[in-house]
Parts: sequence; C-alpha cells; structure tokens
Amino acid sequence: MVNEALTAGIDEARLWARHQALAEHGATAAGGVNRQALSDEEIAARRVLVEWGRAIGLAPFSDAIGNLFLRYEGTDAQAPPVLTGSHIDSQPTGGKFDGTFGVLAGLEAVEAMRAAGFRPRRSIEVVAWTNEEGSRFAPGMMGSTLFRGSRELADMLAVRDGAGSSVAECVRAVRAAEPDVPERALGFPVAAYVEAHIEQGPLLELERKTIGVVSGIQGKRVFRVTVTGEENHAGTSPRRVRKDALVAAVAMLGRLHAEMHDDEDVVKFTVGLLEVSPNAPSVVPARVHFSIDLRHPDPDVLARLGDRIAPICEAVRGPCAVEVRELSHDPPLEFPIAMRDLVRDAAAGLGLAHMDLPSAAGHDARHLHYLCPTGMIFVPCAGGISHNEAESCTPADLAAGARVLVEVLGRLAA
Ligand code: GLV
Ligand code: MN
Ligand code: MN
Repeated sequence: MVNEALTAGIDEARLWARHQALAEHGATAAGGVNRQALSDEEIAARRVLVEWGRAIGLAPFSDAIGNLFLRYEGTDAQAPPVLTGSHIDSQPTGGKFDGTFGVLAGLEAVEAMRAAGFRPRRSIEVVAWTNEEGSRFAPGMMGSTLFRGSRELADMLAVRDGAGSSVAECVRAVRAAEPDVPERALGFPVAAYVEAHIEQGPLLELERKTIGVVSGIQGKRVFRVTVTGEENHAGTSPRRVRKDALVAAVAMLGRLHAEMHDDEDVVKFTVGLLEVSPNAPSVVPARVHFSIDLRHPDPDVLARLGDRIAPICEAVRGPCAVEVRELSHDPPLEFPIAMRDLVRDAAAGLGLAHMDLPSAAGHDARHLHYLCPTGMIFVPCAGGISHNEAESCTPADLAAGARVLVEVLGRLAA
C-alpha cells in the first residue's frame, strides 16, 4: 500500500517547469545545458534551488567542497537524516535532466510531504553534490567522494581546470555568492540515501517500463595520459630526430582501442579528451594529453584491463616519454536488497511498470553506498541518449519517478 496522501502531492507540471527553469542557467543554442561545476551558471542555478527550498521552509547548508543541502526538519532533529538528490553540473554538451532530475525530484518529494502535512521523524535533506561530471575538474564525484571521506579535501581543492582555476578558488567564489547559506562540517551520519536519475541507457524504453529498480553500478577507472616529445620545425626536422608526441599518442590509442574491447561489448573504453600542444600546423607536437574512461561490471576484468594501460602506452611511446596517472578506481557495487525492495514495492504499489537493471553510468550513489543503505530509481530517457544536448524525458515519467521517490523517502524517514 502506498501513502496516497504523499504521492498525490507530486505536481507533474511544477516538476517539469522547474527542469525548464533550471535549464536556463547554462542553456546552449541547441537546447541543452552547459553548466560546469562551480561556474557562474551553477551559482545561479544554486540560487534558484535555495529560493525554491526557502519558499517551503527548507534550511540551506553548504560545506567545504560546496555540496548544497536543503533540509526539511523532522520531528527528531538529532536522528541522522535521509538524503536524496544528485548533481546539477553538466557535461559541456549536456541535457536538462542528467543529475538535475534527482535534485528536483527530491525537492518535489518534500513539496508533496509538506502539502500533505507529513512531518517525518528523520529530517530529509535534498542534496546537489559538487562536480559529479568531472568534465571541468577531474576526477568527478568530488562532492560525494569527500563526503564519504575516501579522498583528501586538500588534494581535491588543488585540482585545476584547463584555464588554470583551482577548485579552491571556485568553491570560495560559490560560498561568497551565498552569504545566507551557512556552512556545516563536510560529512555527517546519514540514515539512508536515495538517488533518482534518468537511465541514460535504452533498456526501460525498449522494455516499456517506467521505473528502473537499480541493482548496482558497474566499475570505472579513470586515467590521464601525458605524452611528452619535443617541438621542432615541420619543414626541416628529419624523421629520425623527431619526438612527435602526437605520433606516439596515436599509436597508443590504436593499441588501446584494439585491446580494450570484447565481442559482447561489455568493456567500455573511451578517450573523450585529447589536447595537442602547441597545436600549431608547422610545429612537431611536443605534448599530448588524453583522458581514459574505462568501465566494466566485473572487478577482475576492470583490474586486469586497467593494469594493461600503462604497459601498452610504454610499449609504443617511441622516442617520447609517457606518464599514465590513475585519477580514480571505483569497483562495481550492488545496492542492498532491502533498498531495492523498497523501490520495487513503491513502483508496484503505484501500479507502475518496472524492472530491475544495473546502472552502466556512474552516480554519486556510488560513494554514499559505503556510508549508508543506498538505492536508486531510474526513469526512461528517449533513445537512451544522454551526455548530449538532445537528452529528452517525458513530464509523466519524471513525475512517476518522483512519486516512487516520495513513497520510498516517506518509509525511510518515518
Ligand atoms: C556520469 O556522469 C558518468 O559519466 O557515468
Ligand atoms: Mn548524472
Ligand atoms: Mn552525467
């Protein structure tokens, strides 16, 4: 039995309108979103979230990495809260829903609780984690990783973007723009975490299901490779003296792509960032910097393939030098059965077509998993397309996901 007083308060039109309103901050000409972590666009979007929260009495908080929390006070102020949310930063050519849906669904769930006069025992906090995407500052999931305590704050604050700005400077700018948002200690006890998200894959749509009960998240390793050669004249330098970093990098990419795949298409290997320096037509390239995103659901395969990357690069570097740096290694994980049961029961109680499925994309839930019982709710996105300005969802599916979320939160916080 679902708590109809709660689920009836989910307002599909409001939830949809809020996605459109937030998408104005970082809007791209092609209808997508470019809202980089800790950017002016994200600061503006955070302001909107704080105002929506304040309008229903939610207390905003932030922390040393800029995670933003909106707290709906429970009757037992001392009890660890239930957290729900996701992120509002985006890829450079991102859509309106990746991450944003989880934050807005959390806010909508609290709106529904308030409208029903439902005051849970545990407080509920809607969170927007800092830098989930890792596109401006690498590695991603900085906010949730630091909240978990598995990384050093100083190391993450020292990370710089391509233009040389540090996370520390940018967090200071965010905090300076929010003098009315108090700061709390980074990390605190949490009773449970539930993240709603678009699937970012095609399965729900193909199977005609509205809700995905997420079983777990596949593993991921992230690397940065720097190849160093020597600048030289394109017209005069003979091949035998050249140290062409791009030639070496292309050899590495060829070998890596040849090894990092399987017939079943389970291995996911992506080089999405490539920088050539000095990037001038008549200068032999002296430096190439590229990213590697490697994913697999089996920890042994992930370990074995990831460990092959440095030797492969070394084997074909020619006269150049190569440095392979691993930025993160997150093994695959499975969410607790009890959390999956809660999501499935809520979907079934609401009469929504649902299925269990693993997450191929990464999420902040990955890190909360090690702190508290954690679960995820997926809704479909058209064609499974994401990390793309064309990302698209229906208002009805988003509202269905929010209904499942409010039901789950209501049970967890009671
Ligand atoms: C998250 O955005 C991911 O890349 O999986
Ligand atoms: Mn996301
Ligand atoms: Mn994403």
